[in-house]
Amino acid sequence: MKRLGILLSGRGSNFLAIANNIASGRLSGCEIAVVISNKADAQGIAYARERGLNAVGIEARGRKRAEHDAEIITCLREHEVDLICLAGYMRLLSPEFVQAFPQRILNIHPSLLPAFPGLDAQQQALEYGVQFAGCTVHFVDEQLDHGVIVLQRAVVVYESDDEHTLSARILEQEHIAYSEAIQRVLSGEYEIVGRRFLTRR
Ligand code: GRF
Repeated sequence: MKRLGILLSGRGSNFLAIANNIASGRLSGCEIAVVISNKADAQGIAYARERGLNAVGIEARGRKRAEHDAEIITCLREHEVDLICLAGYMRLLSPEFVQAFPQRILNIHPSLLPAFPGLDAQQQALEYGVQFAGCTVHFVDEQLDHGVIVLQRAVVVYESDDEHTLSARILEQEHIAYSEAIQRVLSGEYEIVGRRFLTRR
């Protein structure tokens, strides 16, 4: 059984979707070993506790990044995680963190990268006028929203969309995409050629 470590900062809907997919067997061969938040009062942490999962708040406020990250690294190691999933974790990881888990950290971003990295990706997409948007699950490297892409799912942008309606349509796809990407990575049946994530047949 592979062990997942989830990092979040807020609402936690992607975490919940992963937990639900594990419970229903749609995502198999893994379990959630620990849920960590840099905000002790994150909604996602409350959900994790309700489900009887190990939930840890490691407050970032007022602390140096390296020191805060070191504590999270220790926690992830203590829980012997195989794969780390950033699920709305709103803090940049230090290079030390990324290097501690090479090709072992995934993130989900609400745009079709490399378009619209950073904050408010859905609003950026609307303002740019794209007609397709979506989400990307990618490995985390030392640059923001940049690592190798594991999986993307696209949605149509309608003329009537605002940030709220577009975000909701993308989020629905996020909840499918993240578990699929985790399954692919955990299978080990892939190789990375350049920046391409190729499934081994
Ligand atoms: C999602 O839109 C995700 O793509 C982005 O942060 C948001 C987190 O939402 N990285 P939730 O906390 O999983 O509901």
